[in-house]
Amino acid sequence: PRVVFSGIQPTGVPHLGNYFGALSQWVEMQNSPEPQTLLYSVVGLHALTMPQDAKKLREDRLNTLASILAVGVDPKKAVLFFQEDVPHHAELAWLLNCMVNIGRLKRMTTWKSKLQIQQNLDVDTEVDESGLNLGLFTYPVLQAADVLLYRTTHVPVGEDQRQHLELARELAQKVNRVMKTDFFPLPMAVTNPAKRILALRGSPPKKMSKSAPDERSRIMITDSSEYIQHKIKTAVTDSVDPEAIADESVPNLADLSPGVANLYTIMSCCTGEDTSDIIPRYYRQRYGRLKADVAEAINAKIAPIRAEFERLKRPENAGYLTQVAAEGRERASEIAEKNLSQIKALLGIQRI
Ligand code: TYM
Repeated sequence: PRVVFSGIQPTGVPHLGNYFGALSQWVEMQNSPEPQTLLYSVVGLHALTMPQDAKKLREDRLNTLASILAVGVDPKKAVLFFQEDVPHHAELAWLLNCMVNIGRLKRMTTWKSKLQIQQNLDVDTEVDESGLNLGLFTYPVLQAADVLLYRTTHVPVGEDQRQHLELARELAQKVNRVMKTDFFPLPMAVTNPAKRILALRGSPPKKMSKSAPDERSRIMITDSSEYIQHKIKTAVTDSVDPEAIADESVPNLADLSPGVANLYTIMSCCTGEDTSDIIPRYYRQRYGRLKADVAEAINAKIAPIRAEFERLKRPENAGYLTQVAAEGRERASEIAEKNLSQIKALLGIQRI
């Protein structure tokens, strides 16, 4: 039977990129007829690789849990838990740290880009590695531990997590080889490449992210209808005057500037319609109408999520959130305990 694991950092309310890239798949996988174990985790230990305010982090963790429930993850079908509640993650991360070399981790791009942001550097500038936080550097090993701890087979994530998954696969193979076992299945990323959502601002636009300083660059799944309209209205497009284009043929998504293509992608994610069916309706018109309709499509999609989030956040439901977390912690711990003791036995550090 398949084992599905995925995680999200509690660094704020999830945005459309998180939702279309990952969370919507989390929900979909619940309805698979296959026998499966689903584990979805709010990964607080990963959040600590960047500076955090303790009070805000606590609030963000609760908001992230409520968001996952609001998008439709059912705690009866999936084990929903806080990573930091299950100490086995950190323990396995240590064991895996002992099996990976610095050269391999240096080839990962995540720490470099985070450090570039921290040091306020351009993309091509060499970062000062002596300032590199060790936790941030070994972040992908902790992620591999998350996945391998449950002997995961499938990992529903956005495109940007592929390199992390590749390391998890390598480590699974390495342990299997060195320990002469087939204990770890090779975890497979389940991604939808069409669903890489870009930031609404910035040139060239990067992926939509929770950490970008300008809040208008992302749409949170709890944003009000007015705020969505405002953010989409001010989203970067291009200076092409669509009405002045001589070429009559309808362009492909790939022919459009990134900002415009992104609006079509978002619309397609919201309505389920193919971009090739949407583009002809707006091509050769000014972007105003497209933007108004994109904002409306987003609002239609997230209005029920927003309402459910607000319901879950009411004081009388605080107990429900704690209960979900407690049940998740218990179920995750049980699997983690069983698997980790087998891994420790493979390494010769079992209880004597
Ligand atoms: P995080 O918290 O950055 O993002 C959560 C999920 O959202 C996806 N995502 C996107 N997809 C499409 N377009 C975007 N603009 C976009 N931005 C984010 C991410 O790919 C991710 O699937 N390292 C992970 C958390 C993690 C994890 C794990 C994931 C820790 N352990 C084990 C899977 C398995 C992260 O920072 O995700």
